[in-house]
Amino acid sequence: MRLRNVQNAKEIVNNSDYVIHNPFQYKGHFKEIFGNDNPIHLEVGMGKGKFIIDMALKYPDINFIGLEKYESIVCRAIQKLEGKEIKNLKLMVVDALELANIFDHEIETLYLNFSDPWPKKRHAKRRLTSELFLPLYDAIFKGDKLIIQKTDNVGLFESSIVSLSNYGYVIEDISLDLANSERDNVQTEYETKFVAQGIKINYLKARKK
Ligand SMILES: C[S@@+](CC[C@H](N)C(=O)[O-])C[C@H]1O[C@@H](n2cnc3c(N)ncnc32)[C@H](O)[C@@H]1O
Repeated sequence: MRLRNVQNAKEIVNNSDYVIHNPFQYKGHFKEIFGNDNPIHLEVGMGKGKFIIDMALKYPDINFIGLEKYESIVCRAIQKLEGKEIKNLKLMVVDALELANIFDHEIETLYLNFSDPWPKKRHAKRRLTSELFLPLYDAIFKGDKLIIQKTDNVGLFESSIVSLSNYGYVIEDISLDLANSERDNVQTEYETKFVAQGIKINYLKARKK
């Protein structure tokens, strides 16, 4: 998904008011960015931003942050936002490994949508639901820890259920065919493509007290 050919990616990101530049300085103070006490929901690995933008439009009383590792991809989200003023949406360009250095018990829901599956066993720790990442999430959540995952990848889904359960999460809801279920759902970029191809989407909602 890495887009190497976006011209001026750095400049576009640096000039966008949607982007939280140097997010580390806001640790513990993210509500000040939004200017209200509304809950903050985070998507890690937002890609080109379709999901987080549509969620922010659909739920104006929730603040949304989309986090993505690559400037060249965040650029695509910024391009989608041109001419729009969405007050409850911010983006950041950072690696998820930094999460515990950015948020201090401020996030109410974490979305992991179509995360890279890292199928090889030797790369298992890189999965965003691995034993490496779950302790980092402990530091970002306010109150209950709530993770919502969607993926086409059965291997990633299975390993997520195991690691989340081993780490004390309870799987509250699950679907092996989200598109044909009754759940309220906003599709991501990847999801829309997969659903059009008839690929089934796995969904889970996991909570840890
Ligand atoms: C397969 S894409 C899915 C994009 C989007 N969530 C969707 O469903 O359309 C995964 C995205 O996660 C990003 N990503 C992977 N590892 C990451 C990390 N450690 N920190 C932040 N973003 C990451 C990738 O750059 C990529 O844009």
